[in-house]
Amino acid sequence: MSSQQLIERINEAEAKAVAAFKSAATAEQLEAARIEYLGTKGLFTDLMKALGSLPKDERPQAGGAANKARQSATEAHQAAKEALESASSRDSFLDITLPGRRKPAGHCHVISRTAAEICEIFAKLGFSIAEGPEVETDYYNFEALNFPHDHPARDMQDTLFVSQELLLRTHTSPCQVRTMEKSQPPVWVVVPGKTYRRDSDISHSPMFHQVEGLAVDKGITFADLKGVLTAFATAMFSPDTKIRLRPSFFPFTEPSAEVDIACVLCHGQGCRLCKGTGWLEILGSGMVDPAVYGFVDYDPEKFSGFAFGMGIERVAMLKYGLDDIRMFYESDLRFLKQF
Ligand code: PHE
Repeated sequence: MSSQQLIERINEAEAKAVAAFKSAATAEQLEAARIEYLGTKGLFTDLMKALGSLPKDERPQAGGAANKARQSATEAHQAAKEALESASSRDSFLDITLPGRRKPAGHCHVISRTAAEICEIFAKLGFSIAEGPEVETDYYNFEALNFPHDHPARDMQDTLFVSQELLLRTHTSPCQVRTMEKSQPPVWVVVPGKTYRRDSDISHSPMFHQVEGLAVDKGITFADLKGVLTAFATAMFSPDTKIRLRPSFFPFTEPSAEVDIACVLCHGQGCRLCKGTGWLEILGSGMVDPAVYGFVDYDPEKFSGFAFGMGIERVAMLKYGLDDIRMFYESDLRFLKQF
């Protein structure tokens, strides 16, 4: 073989080797190609051996060509090896059999949930749901509810005023008047919503929630009030929950009653939660005062009714055994996720 022929075969071998390395789709195919071209018994070894049969003065040129060709084939092999390795490590990083990453989904806040639960119980008793504004007038919040002008609840100490005429409602009771203004009896409504008072400690928050109830119809008596509230307490807490009514006073109900449930912890035995009394106060209530009917054009000779108002936080705290109202508003997920 002349040196010219040998150089041609060397260049051919280089081109074939580079092509084989590039087209190897797996590590096994690449290794087979390496053995074929660059192995100790491979094509380049044969070609190197063939250099020995050339005349001495032709060897350097052909030898240089052979070294260069083997070098570039070696580099092509290295590049192909790296490409295969990085592809396989990408595959193991991306395990397509793993389930997708779920977006964390939120859920209803415990206050909204308790409000919905309360409303649902009253809906089953025939009440419909109404809503009213949180920014109220003095008229609806106090005047039409028969609050005398010098009543302490009107004081700046308790009420958050927006302007001379407007305030943040201190209870949901203004919705009693708004509802009765809009329709004649029978009315059976519950009104959930936010309420505001200048008050803040372990059991009071400047913003809190109430559910108001109002039923006005022909022949409604105090026994209906007690029956409805018993049905509510047993549905909300447990079927054997006892309630107790204590005489109280509100300007817009007469007679009025504070309603207690038997302590959810000790069931009436007396404990720390109920301060030894066996009872927990859950709401204020009473028969609608005829003076209120005067503001809404209802005939007190024809109709009678009852009203009640409860704090949603209070109900939730009793139901879930919580002792600090501020937990509801701190947005601590460790707390919120428990409900
Ligand atoms: N509005 C009263 C309060 O916030 C509760 C109440 C409502 C009392 C309806 C009687 C009737 O304390």
